[in-house]
Amino acid sequence: MQDPTPTILCGDATAVLSTLDDSSVHAVVTDPPYGLDAAGKMLGQISAGYHLSETHSRGYADNDAEAYQEWCGTWARECLRVLKPGGHLIAFGGTRTIHRLTVAVEDAGFEIRDELVWLYGSGVPKGLNLTDDDGRRTGWGTTLKPAHEPAVLARKPLAGTVAQAHVEHGTGAMNLGACMVEQKDGTPRWPANVVIDDAVADLLADASRFFFVAKPGSRERPVVDGVRHPTVKPLSLMRELVRLVTPPGGVVLDPFAGSGTTLEASLIEGMQAVGIERDSTFLPLIRARVARAFESIRTDAA
Ligand SMILES: C[S@@+](CC[C@H](N)C(=O)[O-])C[C@H]1O[C@@H](n2cnc3c(N)ncnc32)[C@H](O)[C@@H]1O
Repeated sequence: MQDPTPTILCGDATAVLSTLDDSSVHAVVTDPPYGLDAAGKMLGQISAGYHLSETHSRGYADNDAEAYQEWCGTWARECLRVLKPGGHLIAFGGTRTIHRLTVAVEDAGFEIRDELVWLYGSGVPKGLNLTDDDGRRTGWGTTLKPAHEPAVLARKPLAGTVAQAHVEHGTGAMNLGACMVEQKDGTPRWPANVVIDDAVADLLADASRFFFVAKPGSRERPVVDGVRHPTVKPLSLMRELVRLVTPPGGVVLDPFAGSGTTLEASLIEGMQAVGIERDSTFLPLIRARVARAFESIRTDAA
């Protein structure tokens, strides 16, 4: 029986990744910084070209797109090395920077397989709204309501055929059978490259039977000693993604663990997990998620 205790490593993703063995993980499922933070804070570097929203069309975006792409390349190359041949990588990105992330992943040597979309109803527009002399909105503004987050789905090149990679490493193909969307009458539907949340499912009504519905419960966000993470993904979304690209019992790596959602998802799905997070203030959140995952596994087994 494999040791289910996850590995939690604190440090810069690229530096820590360089200490991991070649071909040692089955899948990388991650949510790296999107390169949108004004001060480059979440990127682990100081932005060279930040511009104010009043004067720049890209608003509060980091505006240092080439540096972001270069940075994505540094960790993507390491992910390629530590993945087994045919292993998949899923990495979320921002709608304004996903193209840079995707090119970096491709240039690192991955094969781009698809783009996934997570549709949600809870986004709040944060752009500039022009006002008249009386301070009333004129109806002219700079951003739409955010309603989706894309993710690149890529694969490390195979060493032979898909079937050989599947037999030898449990990689190459996706576990579509474990991700079928069950309709009300029990009929399974092929998993789509779109995931929706409850609000969108209500809007789509009938069409939602084609898509996996992620239920983002606010109660699932861990808080330890007043510390919470600002950009938490829904647990059900991450469970679906790790199940899709990891063989049962395989190793999932998240180089940007944040509060540890991918680790919690992997453990509940019966996989092993390796997480890297640079900011040590988030480590208690990751440990809380790991403890919760073991608790839910124990409860299910009882
Ligand atoms: C978008 S958040 C991930 C959130 C996570 N998906 C969750 O649900 O909690 C990205 C994380 O990457 C971390 N990070 C930023 N730069 C990093 C770096 N160079 N190396 C490792 N982690 C980094 C940030 O501290 C942040 O917690």
